Amino acid sequence: MLGDTRARFRIGLDGTRYATVTERDGAKTDYPVHSVIGVEPLQQYLIETAPGRLQSFDVVWDTERKAWFHLYPDQNVPPSDGLHWTGPYKNWNGRCAVCHATGYDAGYDPDTETYRSTQSEIGVGCEACHGPGAGHVEWTRGDGEAARIANSGFPADLSTPEGLIQQCAGCHSRREAFFDHSPEPGTPYHDAYNLSLLRPGSYYPDGQIRDEVYV
Ligand code: HEC
Ligand code: HEC
Ligand code: HEC
Repeated sequence: MLGDTRARFRIGLDGTRYATVTERDGAKTDYPVHSVIGVEPLQQYLIETAPGRLQSFDVVWDTERKAWFHLYPDQNVPPSDGLHWTGPYKNWNGRCAVCHATGYDAGYDPDTETYRSTQSEIGVGCEACHGPGAGHVEWTRGDGEAARIANSGFPADLSTPEGLIQQCAGCHSRREAFFDHSPEPGTPYHDAYNLSLLRPGSYYPDGQIRDEVYV
């Protein structure tokens, strides 16, 4: 419960998980839970509010305390607000999945305002860091000669600090993405993202990120 917003969770007779949400305006909706993000310490539920459109619900499960809590207890916003869980800032397809999936494409159609999102793998898979793995599969079949191929056949070179930054920072920095899909492997960071500079409010004086957890 947050202000006059309420959420109740239950398991239906057929095993389906439901979140019953009563909004500030009194509207009550029973949503089947689509899927879960995270393992520990936080599990967050996705709710499909329109076909293909997944919204991240902001009452979440703390696996260590074994308790529900609200992610933004100071934001008891009405459904019309962009920061409400049904709003654009909490949209999984457009705001979250590119960091939480591999080979992701949001598949947004601006004419119909719908999503047909696709990914090659849920979560951060091998190819999210190493790039396409076909060359690596070749490498595993190779003889002694092939064993000397750089990066074990992967396109990305993760052996240098610069290589790591280019490949990891896309998901591990405070930034705006230029694309709504995973960039082609090898795309330089600054061609795919606009890094948030040291604006007041974005970082603590010692350089740690504020509000978010990406760095
Ligand atoms: C810029 C990349 C990025 C974006 C965008 C992003 N995340 Fe994350 N997310 C991360 C990283 C990195 C972590 C791990 C942070 C840590 O462990 O300190 C994380 C952790 C999480 C966790 C905890 C996972 C666990 O196993 O406990 C959840 C849940 C989560 N994010 C949900 C979301 C949702 C919902 C959105 C969109 C509203 C989102 N994330 C957007 C990068 C991102
Ligand atoms: C979070 C990013 C990440 C993910 C996901 C990941 N790796 Fe790696 N991998 C690395 C890093 C970093 C190195 C060390 C590279 C170095 O020091 O040269 C590495 C090293 C390797 C190497 C040795 C590479 C070399 O240069 O010889 C292989 C092989 C490899 N990983 C395979 C895999 C496979 C298979 C998966 C999926 C099961 C996977 N990796 C998932 C980041 C990742
Ligand atoms: C596609 C986006 C993506 C890429 C690329 C990526 N990460 Fe991550 N990383 C995440 C997410 C999301 C999490 C949170 C765990 C999860 O939900 O899978 C995470 C978790 C981590 C964690 C654990 C953080 C914690 O507090 O437990 C480390 C360390 C990390 N990543 C390092 C790296 C390194 C090093 C690379 C590059 C070799 C890399 N990551 C590339 C998205 C990414």
